[in-house]
Amino acid sequence: MGSLPPREGRLEVYAQAEIARTYDRRWSQARGRRRDLRKQRALAKALESLEGALGRPLGTILDAPCGTGRFGAFWSARKLPMGGSRAALVLGLDGSLPMLHQAQAKAWNHPLAAGDLARLPLVSGAVDVVVCIRFMHLVRSSAARVEFLREAARVAGGGVIVDYRHGQTPRGVGRRLRGILARWFGQEGPRIWPGRAQALAEVQEAGMGLVGVVPVRRPWWIGDKLLLVARAPSLMAPPTLGPERGILGSNTNSGADSP
Ligand SMILES: C[S@@+](CC[C@H](N)C(=O)[O-])C[C@H]1O[C@@H](n2cnc3c(N)ncnc32)[C@H](O)[C@@H]1O
Repeated sequence: MGSLPPREGRLEVYAQAEIARTYDRRWSQARGRRRDLRKQRALAKALESLEGALGRPLGTILDAPCGTGRFGAFWSARKLPMGGSRAALVLGLDGSLPMLHQAQAKAWNHPLAAGDLARLPLVSGAVDVVVCIRFMHLVRSSAARVEFLREAARVAGGGVIVDYRHGQTPRGVGRRLRGILARWFGQEGPRIWPGRAQALAEVQEAGMGLVGVVPVRRPWWIGDKLLLVARAPSLMAPPTLGPERGILGSNTNSGADSP
């Protein structure tokens, strides 16, 4: 994880064996299990909406960061949308070996790789979709989030599904207030989550076209988690050339995709 800017150091805690060993406890009680199930349902919807937008099934999936293999059973149970019973090819990637070892111990039955989300060890367009859950809320700066998104977009031939926490709930507002207080005392304070509009703008700044937003809880302003579904830059419509709408004519088309 050496390429992360120093201010994103909070992510380093996952390299600690004790943090990795106890990570899954958050899903073990009834409340945690409900939260986990809600996320899985939202993820299933997000995958469906990307498949709908692309008009084809997603055959290869990169789950990054996969952490302790939280979605192992979800991926194994997933059927191809055309009704076939073969699960998609899933690759799990994470920057922390202790987290990956936990995944391995849980019999996550997909390939696992150690790697940095800032420089994914894959060629451009290598997978159909990159699924990035519980990561962006740990990244402090908007610029760093956009860089991570650009890298995900590079390896995604179809699209990216990314989990954001927006700061427009009471919890988000509380963090802002704590941030103000912390700065008052010369401290760094909590990470401030972007508003919903900024989250959408970051996806577009990374060159992707927004396909949809799946709130993990409804209405979206009660829960702070959103899954953003975006189309890879390679699939964005290029500017239309021609006598009526050419770049040399007056009616220039930007080629941008509207959400
Ligand atoms: C909160 S966990 C989320 C894991 C999983 N997606 C989940 O929902 O449980 C964040 C993960 O990001 C990984 N991570 C942090 N920085 C990374 C980086 N630059 N490259 C790859 N993985 C990273 C950590 O090792 C950790 O496993």
